[in-house]
Amino acid sequence: MAKKEKSHRKKVRRRVNRKNSKVQFDKYELYRKAVQSAETDVQFIRDTYVELKGKQPRVFREDFCGTFALSNEWIKLNPRHEAIGIDLDPEPMAYGRQHYLTQLKPEQQRRMKLIEGNVLDPNLPKADIVAAMNFSYFCFKQRDLLKKYFANVYKTLGKDGIFLVDLFGGSQCYDAIEDTIKHEGFTYYWDQTNFDPVTNEALFHIHFRVKGQKIERVFTYDWRLWSIPELRDIMAEVGFRKSHVYWEGTAADGSGDGNFTRVDHGEACQSWIAYIVAEK
Ligand SMILES: C[S@@+](CC[C@H](N)C(=O)[O-])C[C@H]1O[C@@H](n2cnc3c(N)ncnc32)[C@H](O)[C@@H]1O
Repeated sequence: MAKKEKSHRKKVRRRVNRKNSKVQFDKYELYRKAVQSAETDVQFIRDTYVELKGKQPRVFREDFCGTFALSNEWIKLNPRHEAIGIDLDPEPMAYGRQHYLTQLKPEQQRRMKLIEGNVLDPNLPKADIVAAMNFSYFCFKQRDLLKKYFANVYKTLGKDGIFLVDLFGGSQCYDAIEDTIKHEGFTYYWDQTNFDPVTNEALFHIHFRVKGQKIERVFTYDWRLWSIPELRDIMAEVGFRKSHVYWEGTAADGSGDGNFTRVDHGEACQSWIAYIVAEK
């Protein structure tokens, strides 16, 4: 009897310890710090519109908006700006409402419209700029489906509208690799698995290490890796008059320098990020 009690107490202690050791973290905050640069992205987006159209844009639509960090920065950039964020998932949108929207003044909040819905919906509000960032449209693996999405963007853009997507590539994309980047207070891991050369599909995970504990698969993405010419062909097929590629410059240490300029040819880097901007 005494023995039993002892082992039971042990179990309880073990359970309590496990509970205490479960590290608390804010996954969207770590994601924002590790992956997003919303403040500079919106400046690039505005400047690109001005460069191509010779006038200021007003309405920005962020498809696959998640926590709508870009829309939030768009609103702050100019008092004339309006933003529309669309996402299927209520969880990141609720986070954005609680953490970002509440930081805006009431007048700024009135310029933001949030839609819990599908980017394929033919009745989405019109915009000067539609952006699909952080490779979100890679979730459309079938060409017909991606084409349907691009056609919907074309239809719901204003007359002088532009459509902006980012993408990545390079020989490293075909390897099972785990990139590790240390940030203040946490480590970010970008883990690529299962690249299939027959389908060009791969599975990606984001892990974080917080307070000495690695939390696996905080975010997972099941994507097809599309190429620049494939995407530009589809953009042309759905009616976009022109598309341009913005390629990142190289810093002294060989990494990307964060400055994107319009190019006709790229470089065969191990890993690259680019934007494609299509004009209606
Ligand atoms: C990779 S996250 C990107 C979030 C945000 N754009 C960013 O830059 O971090 C992809 C988002 O797309 C959303 N999503 C996936 N399919 C969608 C669809 N058909 N319509 C609207 N949102 C979709 C998911 O809910 C998820 O929040």
